[in-house]
Amino acid sequence: MNSETDFEENVRLALANPQNQGEMTDADSVGTVGSPDCGDMLRMWLKFTEKDGQKVIDRASFQSFGCQTAIAVASMATEMLKGKTVEEAETLSSSELSAPLGDIPPMKIHCGQMVEGALKQALSQNGDTPEPAGDGPAPGNTLLGDFHASTSGKVKVVPLGDR
Ligand code: FES
Repeated sequence: MNSETDFEENVRLALANPQNQGEMTDADSVGTVGSPDCGDMLRMWLKFTEKDGQKVIDRASFQSFGCQTAIAVASMATEMLKGKTVEEAETLSSSELSAPLGDIPPMKIHCGQMVEGALKQALSQNGDTPEPAGDGPAPGNTLLGDFHASTSGKVKVVPLGDR
């Protein structure tokens, strides 16, 4: 198999059993991003815990109105994040988050960047400073729920810049 075939097969396998999909009602922080390239959206929730005196990610989950690659990367990434400190998670690039899938085709790179963007936005709250009311979703909100309520301005879409 060539690397593109490997990638497609790995995405197919990830989609057959996606991990950590769905809103997290007891999350400490949440990040939502939209990709201006394709109009897709992704939200990631994080729950922190304390381990050996350090704040680490206990759980991560996601919802996506996105393509198969975004879902596959988010599934892998939310598994990868378990047990990572905030500092370790902050250094993860989109290519590291999508690495378990193999060589990501150039036209799919922004899918991984969307996952990285949601992670970085959630980490920026760090579980200490919840987003102020009216300036983004509450941690327990579903992406679909906010999508339906988007006329009230509750969806925070963060365009991904050039990286
Ligand atoms: Fe838009 Fe993958 S095509 S996130």
